[in-house]
This record gives sequence, C-alpha cells and structure tokens, in this order.
Amino acid sequence: MDGNPIERDFSALVDDRPEERSFRVDRSVYSDPAVYDAEMTCIFESGWVYLCHESQVEKEGDYYATEIGRQPVFVSRQKDGGLKCFINACSHRAAILTPFKRGNARVMTCRFHGWAYNCDGRCVRIKGEDEGFPQDGFDRAQFNLTEVKTVASYRGFVFASLNPGVETLEDYLDAAKTFIDLLVDQSPAGLEVVRGYSTYTIRGNWKMQLENAVDGYHVSTVHRVFAATVGAREARDSSSGMARTEGGRITGKVATGGYDLGRGHMMIWATHTTPEVRPIWGQKERFEKEFPPAKVKWILERGRNLAVFPNVMIMDNPSTQIRKVKPLGPDRFEVTVYCIAPKGEPAEARAARLRKFEDFYLTSGMATSDDVAALEDTYDGGMATTARWNEFGRGYATMIEGPDEDAAAIGCAARTSMRNWDFETLYHGFYRRWRTLMAAGRND
Ligand code: FES
Ligand SMILES: [Fe+2]
Repeated sequence: MDGNPIERDFSALVDDRPEERSFRVDRSVYSDPAVYDAEMTCIFESGWVYLCHESQVEKEGDYYATEIGRQPVFVSRQKDGGLKCFINACSHRAAILTPFKRGNARVMTCRFHGWAYNCDGRCVRIKGEDEGFPQDGFDRAQFNLTEVKTVASYRGFVFASLNPGVETLEDYLDAAKTFIDLLVDQSPAGLEVVRGYSTYTIRGNWKMQLENAVDGYHVSTVHRVFAATVGAREARDSSSGMARTEGGRITGKVATGGYDLGRGHMMIWATHTTPEVRPIWGQKERFEKEFPPAKVKWILERGRNLAVFPNVMIMDNPSTQIRKVKPLGPDRFEVTVYCIAPKGEPAEARAARLRKFEDFYLTSGMATSDDVAALEDTYDGGMATTARWNEFGRGYATMIEGPDEDAAAIGCAARTSMRNWDFETLYHGFYRRWRTLMAAGRND
C-alpha cells in the first residue's frame, strides 16, 4: 500500500545465526522512532490486525471503535448480519464519529457540525447542504465514509487489513488456529466478551507485551508473590472446587512447553496441578464424549497463552482473557483486557471465572501489576544500547523442529517446539517474521 517510503534496512537488528545456535535482538528495536514508524507502515498498516470479538457487535447498528496501526477505524454490524469496517473520521473535517468505544447507532451523527452517516457508511445528511455546496450535479455520495474492505472473522475473532492484497485470514493465522479452536470448541453456543474492560498504559514498547505474554521464564520469579498471596488466602478461607485459584503452575515443577506457530504467532502452555478449579471442569464428561482424548487433555489440563502477531493475546487458563495491544509510539502502548467466556455458562462457573480474572489479569489484581513493573524495567534497561543485544538463545540446544508429539496429537503445524516454557526459541519466529515484513515494506 502507499505509505512512507521505508528506506532503512532494519534486518541487521536481528542477529540470527542458526548454525551457531545464537539469536539476539538489537535493543534499539524497542526505542528507535524510525523503527516504530516503519513498523506502523510495514506491519500494522500492511497486514492483518485484530479488531474485536463478534459478540461486541452483535446487533444491527452495533459499533466498536478501534484502530489499525495509526488509523482510527470502527467496526459496524450491518442489516444483513455482515460486518463492515470504516475509517473513523468524518468526511468533512475528520472528527471521530463514534461517541463511545462501543455502542449502537444505525445513524451516526458527527458531533462537530452534524453530518450524518448510515451504519453502512453512506453520508445521509449534510447540515445546510443546499446553501453551502453548488447544487448542480452535487452528489452527497462523494462524502460516504472510507471503507476498509478487507475484514474477516475467524471463529468470532474479527480482523481487518488496510492492504487489499493481503493473504487470507486463515492463511495468516497459520498454526495459531489450533489454539483458537481449542478455546472456541469448548462452547457449542459460542463465546462472549463479558461486559466491562480494563485499559492501562505502559511505558514500554508494544513488542515487549507480545514477548511477556508467552514468557514462561518470568512466571516463577515475577508471579511468586501472586502464588504466595493466593496460597495464604486459600489456607485461611474455606473455598473449594472452582472457587479456588491455581498456583501450582507458578511454583511447582510441572510439564510445560511452547511453540513457534508460524507468521510470528507464538504460544506457551503449562500443566495444571489442580485442573478442577477451571470453570470449564463441569463440562468434562461432555468433552470426553465429543472430543478425542488428546484434545480433552489440551482443553482441561493445560493452561495456554497464545500471542497472535501483531496485536492480540488470547489466554485460556483458570480464567480466560483477550488482551489487545495498541502501540502509541516507540515508548508507550495501551493494553485493553476483556474476559471472554462461554455463552450461557452456569452462574457458579461465570463467577469463578470473573473472580480469577480479577485476581490475575485485572490491573488491580495481584499479577498484572507485577508484569507491568517488570516490563517497564526491561524498557528502561533497554535504553542501554551501548550494551547492544537482548539474548534469545535459551533452549536452542533442545529445540525440536516441527510439532512435538503433543502438538501433532491435535494436528498443530508448529514450526518449532520447546519442551520447557522457560525457553525462548519461540521468539525466533516472531523476530524473523518482523524482519521479513520490515524488509518487504522497504522502498528499494
Ligand atoms: S467534522 Fe464532522 S461535520 Fe464537520
Ligand atoms: Fe506475567
């Protein structure tokens, strides 16, 4: 697509030497404004990005305001049930059209001078139209909203691209689809984003959020406070079953692993020590009837964090979360977290899911605040570009090419596998994808 010419060659910022089992990333990728500008053009505004979940725009006229890179957009549910996406800027003088992040408006009226648009993008009213414009041959349609035509949904997760020539969404999602399926298949009635969300801003670079989401290595250090606090609370109270939280994955020695899923997508998993605390545990018998044993094991016994390149994370642990990242510059990004849950799940399960969401994922909880502090430390330390490299070589010695037996058992075409979530080889796929896209966007 058109955009700023990207003239610099950024490929030397990824020091990738497979023959020496070495992988490093130059710390300037987290802070250089030129890198950030190129990322916006070559990654966010050229490929697919996640927008929202279909349950957030369920009825005709429902809208959801978000962004594709630097471009404000909104998604709108149409009369025929389809979804459209528009640039969220009035055709007059660019005012944002959506009054709220999410709402319903079959006609959207600009709050600046009152131009109005149908939810299908047609400009239907211009205040003082016959006085202001020469009426000879005047066609109001010239002021219809600019549509982002490449919009698609995979099992309820809505993505769009400013690039009409982009590959299909299914191709783009690659092996990440396996783990989206594992979440969606749990609910025959579908999933819904639970009301409410939390948004917070972090001093750091957006890539660090993707890294953090699939970094098993930090869990036993950063989240030991969470595990100890919850452990002490549960020793005092009389909670049982799914009302309890699960700290075993954090402090115990359990089987863990992770995958490079292709096209920059990554995933880590860890075995639950107490799978019965999962809100979905009550569905065990149904799963055992409907799914092969390997799939049941993946759904019930393993917590999973999935990072879909470049801007969404989907977590399926004792609670379940969509985490969306919005870059705000090289040194700042915004995160919005939502709880996602099976439609119509029993009240007890929903309550357990929400309490665990509050415990771990909410900013006021006991884990995310520690993650943010650790991330800001890495951003601040990353300013030390005279000590140039971030090290991503751990796990190279034992990395498995292709899917391991657990991934193969559910047909997941992982590019590489690691049998310990402390390892870091899954990031190689992320940064190789980053390097490829940054090079493809250059104006050679
Ligand atoms: S900017 Fe929207 S009507 Fe003027
Ligand atoms: Fe964490």
